[in-house]
Amino acid sequence: MRVAIITLSDTRSSKTDESGRMLMDLVGAWEASQVVETLLMKDDRPVLEAELIRLADSGQCDLILTTGGTGLGPRDVTPEATAAVCDRAVPGLAELMRAASLAKTPLAVLSRGVAGLRGPCLIINLPGSPKGARECLEAVQGVLPHAVQIAQGGKPH
Ligand code: MTE
Repeated sequence: MRVAIITLSDTRSSKTDESGRMLMDLVGAWEASQVVETLLMKDDRPVLEAELIRLADSGQCDLILTTGGTGLGPRDVTPEATAAVCDRAVPGLAELMRAASLAKTPLAVLSRGVAGLRGPCLIINLPGSPKGARECLEAVQGVLPHAVQIAQGGKPH
């Protein structure tokens, strides 16, 4: 699986991208997966939409993971940008992430993250904290190879 990782953060963009590096390590440990691109950007909806479109339409990327910008802050626009560029929603992934997260913290309800498809490329929003991003990705990672295979027209197992 070819994976791109985008970190959204107004406050952390000049500091170390902790969540992005954590996601790189997690994805790096998956079988037959590689991180093809990592981006660190401010919460800017038009810029994020443009990058999501570029990556999804490049044919070089099966999965885009975003981290950050899913909360209730006035500048949190990751879910809106993602929904705007996707042609189909995959609500079950976000439902599973929030359900699994709720078992750990009631603050899970404050992530508005979505998941969807732009063409064959799957896009998933994760919360911004390393802990939240890890917990959410771990909740769905088991179904991702299957999801990507079907999204690309492959037969289910
Ligand atoms: N989900 C999990 N699994 N673990 C967490 O610690 N933090 C929550 C939530 N989801 C959290 C979580 C908090 S405190 C917030 S504000 C929202 O994610 C949104 O985070 P973001 O704006 O950084 O994306």
